[in-house]
Amino acid sequence: MQKVGVVPGDGIGPEVVKEARKVLDAVSERRNLTFEFEEFPLGAGHYLKTGEVLSDETLQRLSKKDAILLGAMGDPRVKPGILEKGVLLRLRFHFDQYVNLRPIKLLDGVPSPLVESNRKIDIQFVRENTEDFYVGLGGRVKKGLSKTDLLLKRKTYEARFDVGIDLEDEEELAFQIGVVTRQGAKRVLDYAFQLAKRRKIDLVTCVDKANVLTDMYGLWREVADEMSKKHGIEREFQYVDAVALHMVRTPDRFKLIVSPNLFGDILTDLGAAIQGGLGFAASGNLNPSGVSMFEPVHGSAPDIAGKGVANPVGAILSSALMLETLGHKDAATDVERAVQDVLRSGKHKTADIGGKTSTSKIGNAVVANLSRR
Ligand code: NAI
Ligand code: MG
Repeated sequence: MQKVGVVPGDGIGPEVVKEARKVLDAVSERRNLTFEFEEFPLGAGHYLKTGEVLSDETLQRLSKKDAILLGAMGDPRVKPGILEKGVLLRLRFHFDQYVNLRPIKLLDGVPSPLVESNRKIDIQFVRENTEDFYVGLGGRVKKGLSKTDLLLKRKTYEARFDVGIDLEDEEELAFQIGVVTRQGAKRVLDYAFQLAKRRKIDLVTCVDKANVLTDMYGLWREVADEMSKKHGIEREFQYVDAVALHMVRTPDRFKLIVSPNLFGDILTDLGAAIQGGLGFAASGNLNPSGVSMFEPVHGSAPDIAGKGVANPVGAILSSALMLETLGHKDAATDVERAVQDVLRSGKHKTADIGGKTSTSKIGNAVVANLSRR
């Protein structure tokens, strides 16, 4: 038996997680899997009632789970950032989920903004999730001499920066430090090439901007080369701007893309757009030797919350990613195929793609399809 912590969260989070749970129950029965689910009421409601965002005790309890399934965080009644940073980022950080896996697949029956001939989109996108320009090191200094002490503290290393600046002929300067460590690059690139091997993908596209940010991405490239050799899989290097262009013009040329954090953040939103929108995009925050967390890419969508119209496909596909990561490849494939069948039929469309099917009817249709297999 495997234990799953469920964090429905805010807005449409609970609505889409409910459908994912339905589908998980159905596929578990079919494949004889047993999960023990425990719900954690984190989010705006809990915070407004108790003043608590995420307690150490909850973290402790979550650390005993095999995986976490999350809806979304964020609520208009709460100052932006409190829940998003206090829950989401804290969980990702605490569990050192260094891989952000975002499959970008355009399913049959789903409209994409790309032209019809451009519909072959099936990309495994691996984004580094802990370093780069997102380490939170920076500062603002005024004219003259200044000194800023910065500390980067990670589970596996620590780095201290003493930044002395002598600013002349300018009133103010702001700076932000980006960091790539050999170990940080290695673990995510290693994961990417392993994933390529598992999926029989023969070319890994490594994203960077090594022509301008030569130090950070010079190291990134060095490690990518090592991992390519280690796993015997070819790699190509592409600058982030070129990748953006090709993802729109020739998305079928990519099978697996691995990217540093910042570029990956931007490119995966482009990916969500070409796969039909946020409602279809799934993700996993992975620590291959720890607790991983699965969540749809979208947020809490307060504008449609409570109306029963949210698209649950992103959440359902995230639960399929969870199944695969927990070792249940067949069950994951069942869910993906059921979702694909339901969408291909064209009979069930949520409002985001111009239909009228409710959130729960999509979940029911996927369950019904599973039971017919
Ligand atoms: P959002 O993703 O919640 O919504 C953006 C737009 O897409 C909205 O018009 C929404 O109605 C639509 N949309 C999103 N998911 C949908 C779905 N499943 N079906 C149909 N339509 C869908 O992003 P937004 O509005 O910028 O942020 C709302 C809140 O969510 C904020 O508090 C934000 O901080 C938070 N957020 C949380 C995330 C997370 O929990 N991982 C990620 C992104 C935002
Ligand atoms: Mg983003």
